Amino acid sequence: MTAPVIAVDGPTASGKGTVAEKLARALGWTYLDSGVLYRLCALQARHDGVDLADEAGLAAIARALRVRFPHGRIELAGRDVSEAVRDESVGNAASRLAVLPSVRQALLALQRGFRRPPGLVADGRDMGTVVFPDAELKVFLTASVESRAARRYKQLIEKGFSAKLPDLLRDLQQRDARDANRAVAPLRPAEDAIVIDSTHLDVDATVERVMDAYRERRRRAC
Ligand code: DC
Repeated sequence: MTAPVIAVDGPTASGKGTVAEKLARALGWTYLDSGVLYRLCALQARHDGVDLADEAGLAAIARALRVRFPHGRIELAGRDVSEAVRDESVGNAASRLAVLPSVRQALLALQRGFRRPPGLVADGRDMGTVVFPDAELKVFLTASVESRAARRYKQLIEKGFSAKLPDLLRDLQQRDARDANRAVAPLRPAEDAIVIDSTHLDVDATVERVMDAYRERRRRAC
């Protein structure tokens, strides 16, 4: 039997990472933040001097990605990049290379490798539509762009990064447009996803809603 998957997709700063991680912890399942893999490709490309227009070069990076997650840290080719990977410029570069079909293809097997018993909670843009189309539960988590920009601003300031709210809002709008309008695996809810708007919900209430939906699925499956 394959391990169950809960797919949590949504736009940048929708809170999907926090929600998915809490869900995984509550269930005792593995957690995959698939955006990190795209961000790591962007970091490695910057390190190697590979241009974001060089699809073959970027796909080679994606295929050879040497990543480890020791004790909640993120290691790329032996370097601790836990902080660097969260930089906004890295997120923007990740969004640009994520439009490239051969990069996405190269990361498929790596992402599917995280599926192991007792289960996996995976967050990203195409977890329910492409990577785990047979996920037991698919959630599309969204929130207004203004509230997402405000949340991202708070996160960055708390971590000691400098940030300007109008710039963040503009970047989020650009990333939303790029992620939603690309030809391959665009950001959109899977047909069988439940859509949760978290503009007026806090993290715990959102997690509870997903848990309820999962319990309901299980109940109906029995
Ligand atoms: O979730 P994030 O902000 O860390 O993701 C960074 C970028 O990576 C995002 O703008 C688009 C891309 N991405 C993707 O295309 N597919 C995924 N499953 C996850 C991220």
